[in-house]
Amino acid sequence: MNNKFRIVLIIVIFAGGWILGSNNNVAPTITSSVGGASYSGGYQATDTDAKLTVGAVPLRETQGNVHIVKPGDSIQAAVEAAQPGDTIQVMPGIYSETVYIDKDDIHLVGVIQNGARATMDGLGKLNDAILYSGNNIIIENFRITKYKGNGIMGQAGNNFEIRNNVIVDTGIYGIFPQLGTNGLIEHNVVSGIEDAAIYIGMSDNIHVAYNEVFDSVAGIEIENSRHAIVEYNNAHHNTGGILAFVTPGLPIKTTEDVIIRNNFVSDNNTPNFGAPGSIVSGIPAGTGILVMAADDVIIEGNIISNHKTAGIIINDHSFATTITMDIESDPNSDRTMILDNVMLNNGYDTIPEVMAVALTELHTGLVDIVHVGPSNGSCIINRHRYRTVGIGSYGECDFTNTDSIDSYLLAGGAEPRVIHPSERGEIAYLGVCSGCHSYTGRLIGPSVEVIQAMYAGNPEGLVEYINAPIKKRDNFPPMPAQNYLDAETQMAVATYMLALEK
Ligand code: HEC
Repeated sequence: MNNKFRIVLIIVIFAGGWILGSNNNVAPTITSSVGGASYSGGYQATDTDAKLTVGAVPLRETQGNVHIVKPGDSIQAAVEAAQPGDTIQVMPGIYSETVYIDKDDIHLVGVIQNGARATMDGLGKLNDAILYSGNNIIIENFRITKYKGNGIMGQAGNNFEIRNNVIVDTGIYGIFPQLGTNGLIEHNVVSGIEDAAIYIGMSDNIHVAYNEVFDSVAGIEIENSRHAIVEYNNAHHNTGGILAFVTPGLPIKTTEDVIIRNNFVSDNNTPNFGAPGSIVSGIPAGTGILVMAADDVIIEGNIISNHKTAGIIINDHSFATTITMDIESDPNSDRTMILDNVMLNNGYDTIPEVMAVALTELHTGLVDIVHVGPSNGSCIINRHRYRTVGIGSYGECDFTNTDSIDSYLLAGGAEPRVIHPSERGEIAYLGVCSGCHSYTGRLIGPSVEVIQAMYAGNPEGLVEYINAPIKKRDNFPPMPAQNYLDAETQMAVATYMLALEK
């Protein structure tokens, strides 16, 4: 070591000791999280949709018919025969098919007998297990495995309940409701998913509770969504445990009002195996909770342990190198509120980006909480408990809990969404394509801008491609065929995609 460097190092150590020493002399502000003020912000229910905690699908006044599906039968045939209000009971056995529910008020229920479940097996060939676009849909008790695309995906249906399903190794998304209002996702076990085990996209008034998510890239993801509560889940052995963020380039630009509370978040150190270019491929392994460009996120009562990068990372879009910026999305995370959490052994082998911020504060060693980038109006209580980096601008929160908020679900349900024929292209685009294609940047697939340049004036050519996609780009995964969409919808979505403006 040359002398100059040694002197600098001594000064740094001295300065560090002095700063740490002076901090140690300040008595910490200790706030009891029991009995204090409760959060008064968040979703404000109107008289007609006063909050409730039981379910998202309104109770039926009359029970419809029950359709029984046995091994050898087709679940899709039963869906086609069913009327709104009917229940479809699927007996234990193996079913290899894609089920598409495009009517309202269908309960699709797997029957569990002596532990044996109705199992949907995609055989490593089929893309999606269950797709729904109706309102008031309940899907419960299935085992779903070996699909390439989605386990359960919702497209623009309101009032949904997805409950007690076991989803193993199903490709890109495990449970993926998109563009829905008022939904409950509870008691599911989801593992081995290449992107997100539970992925809430562009939705409102969502409750995600009592799920176990593991061995996936992202455990639970709240993306471009508002008024969501994520509680009592166990997120472990993913790359990142629980995420709330904004993906730029989507039609809905914000993620806000998210409460992440009382979850177990541990050992999310799995090396990232997300598709190259996808947003989640930028998540550093060893992330407990990640807040990126999301506003009004409360983190309370979680047990967050054993993450090599950090327990909680709050950042802006510049942190994620895989993201293309969108001038319409505010890239910062504002008003992050960190209440009491138990944090153990986080940040023991962190990444250079976190180390760089730590260095400016002469912080060495473990990192429970790190904030990278600007932030307005953020707060924390009992900050002295954690090893923190980058939260100098955080004030003291003037509340200590969220006890006054049980749920953001809507009593009586949200108005069913009615899809007019003229909206077909838009809904299919938002519901299906935008999961993988954004306007400007690369997601799972190339950007819409790139596609528009290739297919300008040629929607027929685009339809041909999506019916039977051929592998074109070395650095992208193959695109799943969209041939389950009827011809009219395919043409509508092609026309919509080609006409889309930023
Ligand atoms: C699960 C992710 C996924 C979904 C959903 C998806 N795509 Fe793709 N798409 C891709 C990927 C990946 C590629 C690049 C494939 C390649 O180059 O081999 C691609 C490529 C394309 C292309 C470029 C074709 C070419 O000639 O290069 C078009 C057009 C396209 N997608 C349209 C659509 C439309 C329309 C939808 C919705 C109905 C859609 N995609 C849904 C992943 C997806």
